[in-house]
Amino acid sequence: MRRILVLHGPNLNLLGRREQSIYGTLSLDSLDSALTKLAEELAIVVDIRQSNSEGELVTWIQEARSGYDGVILNPAAYTHTSVAIRDAIVAVGLPTIEVHLSNIHQREPFRQHSYVAGVALGQISGLGPIGYLLALRGLHEHMSAMRKPRKTSPTSRRQKSATK
Ligand code: DQA
Repeated sequence: MRRILVLHGPNLNLLGRREQSIYGTLSLDSLDSALTKLAEELAIVVDIRQSNSEGELVTWIQEARSGYDGVILNPAAYTHTSVAIRDAIVAVGLPTIEVHLSNIHQREPFRQHSYVAGVALGQISGLGPIGYLLALRGLHEHMSAMRKPRKTSPTSRRQKSATK
C-alpha cells in the first residue's frame, strides 16, 4: 500500500479558532478525518502530523525517505523563511505537494514568496481544506502515472535505432 506523509506546520493546530475569516472554521482534527477518509477510499495509508517546530518538520521529512511514497506539506509560516525545509525536500527526493489554505499570492508581499514551491511537484493555494484532498488525489494520480511503463510503438523504436 502507498504511504503518504501529511505535515502541518506552525499554528495550524489552532485551525478553526485562528483568524477564521482567512482560514475558516474547520478544526485540524476534522480536516485530518476528511483526509483519512479519502485515503481509505483511495487505498492509501496517510500519516498526519503537526508541529510548531522547524527542526521537527525537517526531521520528519528526512525520515520519510524510507517507507513513504510522497509528502503533502503545509509549511505555514516556514514557507516564507525556511531554506532548511526546502533542502530536506530536495534531499529525500519524494514527490511533495505544497498546500496552503489561503491564497498566499493575494496576501501580504512577504507571504507571496515560497522557498518550497521551487522544489515541490506542485502547489495548491487558496482552496481551503479542499486543497489537501486535491493534493492527495493529485499525488495518487502522479504515482500511478509514474508506475506505468512508457508505451513505445514499433515505429518509434525503429526510428530511435535508425538515429543511433
Ligand atoms: C498558510 C499561509 C501562511 O502564510 C501562514 O503563515 C500560515 C498558513 C495557509 O495555509 O494559508 O500559517 O500556510
